[in-house]
Amino acid sequence: MKDICRLVVLISGRGSNLQAIIDACASGKINGKVVAVISNRPDADGIQRAKKADIPVEVLDHTAFPDRESFDHALMQLIDSFSPDAVLLAGFMRLLTTDFTQHYAGRILNIHPSRLPKFRGLHTHQRALEAHKKTHGASVHFVTDELDGGPVILQSRLAIKPEHTVETLAADVLKQEHIIYPQVVKWLCENRIALQNNQVIFNGHALKTPLQLDDIQTDF
Ligand code: GAR
Repeated sequence: MKDICRLVVLISGRGSNLQAIIDACASGKINGKVVAVISNRPDADGIQRAKKADIPVEVLDHTAFPDRESFDHALMQLIDSFSPDAVLLAGFMRLLTTDFTQHYAGRILNIHPSRLPKFRGLHTHQRALEAHKKTHGASVHFVTDELDGGPVILQSRLAIKPEHTVETLAADVLKQEHIIYPQVVKWLCENRIALQNNQVIFNGHALKTPLQLDDIQTDF
């Protein structure tokens, strides 16, 4: 078996996806270890989750930097000091420079609360309800320099019910996030996914369309 996969997780807030990944590593489902959690917000709740799991935490407050370039440069140096195999954005609410995304190309993932390419950006649940969509969900994708635009690996789908509110829809999607993110991280740590020519390679074959949670046997 490959050496344990070193993961650095970036957060800005609650950290529930971080928790799902910590738990999946602890149970051995992911052959990985979260070697550091980095938050750009000193008050992020996810910091407590990392501390509870004895994971080193770093706060790099973006407000202390004059511009996006200098923050991203410092962030890269900090991340690289932990020698990660992969970088995981887990509710990390920052736009990233091209220098940053290219530096980690093929080894940086993000989770986004919509079925990309639908509803990039913020307020995805509200926008899905306002657009009277029948279905919604979440996506895990490779990060490229296009915001929420990198190739999607795995998506979930759920039916929007008439009684859904922004809050209940967000909660239902979040449950799916906690399945699809650990699943993709597991695959990444097993070298079963890669990024080549802006395409997802899964088990050695280029994906024409994203994998769907409904169609796979999940470990979570
Ligand atoms: C999650 O819903 C995640 O998909 C979203 O932020 C939330 C973070 O929750 N990410 C984005 O919107 C990124 N564009 P968490 O801190 O509990 O994991």
